[in-house]
Amino acid sequence: MPTETVYGLAADAADPMAVARVFEAKGRPRFNPLIAHVADLAAGDRIAVLDDRARKLADAFWPGPLTLVAPLRDPSAVCDLARAGLDTVAIRVPGHPLARALLARFGRPVVAPSANRSGRPSPTTFADAVEETGDKAAAGLDGGPCLVGLESTVVAVLDGPARLLRPGAVTRAQIEALIGPLAEAEADAKRSPGRMALHYAPDAPVRLNAEEPNPGEAFLAFGPSGDQAFNLSPSGDLAEAAANLFAMLRAADRTRPSAIAVAPIPGEGLGEAINDRLNRAAGFVG
Ligand code: TXA
Ligand code: MG
Repeated sequence: MPTETVYGLAADAADPMAVARVFEAKGRPRFNPLIAHVADLAAGDRIAVLDDRARKLADAFWPGPLTLVAPLRDPSAVCDLARAGLDTVAIRVPGHPLARALLARFGRPVVAPSANRSGRPSPTTFADAVEETGDKAAAGLDGGPCLVGLESTVVAVLDGPARLLRPGAVTRAQIEALIGPLAEAEADAKRSPGRMALHYAPDAPVRLNAEEPNPGEAFLAFGPSGDQAFNLSPSGDLAEAAANLFAMLRAADRTRPSAIAVAPIPGEGLGEAINDRLNRAAGFVG
């Protein structure tokens, strides 16, 4: 299933057999819960308890690249396995027209983790999704390249302050402008079970903050530079860099380099999510 962020491997959220096959296809640890995708806020309301903060964020960013983790209301809508047994559920209303059409026609929540095998970079084109898990899928929808290119921002709206569990396409500043300061996810590791090191990793090692490549390395430049094979954004635009990141990591990897060296990326705005993915690709906990 295409979404505006990355391609997902979709299944009926209520069907434990289907959900088990998604975990199996990805080689994903069973303790890492999935996101339930729904058609609209009303559908989200039926499966989770969305407080005022959640509602504000949903109004502002749905449909779009934001996932809310909220207390579970209807345990039958998203099966236990999909939630990894938690009494919370992650919900997102995606913005991609094909995803929206699929969800509207299906009429029930659809789990869709990124369609990569566990630990690998997320697929942002149909071809990359097919390469990762296509042999395990009954069908595939080609929605073209993903415009955002980074996974959704995950925010927990539970008891206490809202927490940023995964930086993503909706920036910290955009969220804080609506609901005030976000607490750090690190203080609450048990509530963000998917945030392990060495994630999003290509086969080649990744070297960060590189001014230039060493012999044998592939180089991902950022901003004006010579005629580099890979430039995340020649104009230094973070949105463009986000959209290119995973596809370029994969393309660089295909050249079988000794390592992939990546130029420094500014940390503000979307840069927080880009650096989070790069740190994990390099094996550092972000
Ligand atoms: O952009 C996206 O979110 C993509 C597209 C396909 O929608 N999906 C995606 O799914 O990135 P996945 O499974 O790769 O990442 C889901 C993240 C994981 O970090 C997981 O641990 C977290 O959401 N998550 C899911 N349910 C949770 C819960 N109840 N509590 C805390 N974290 C949860
Ligand atoms: Mg993923």
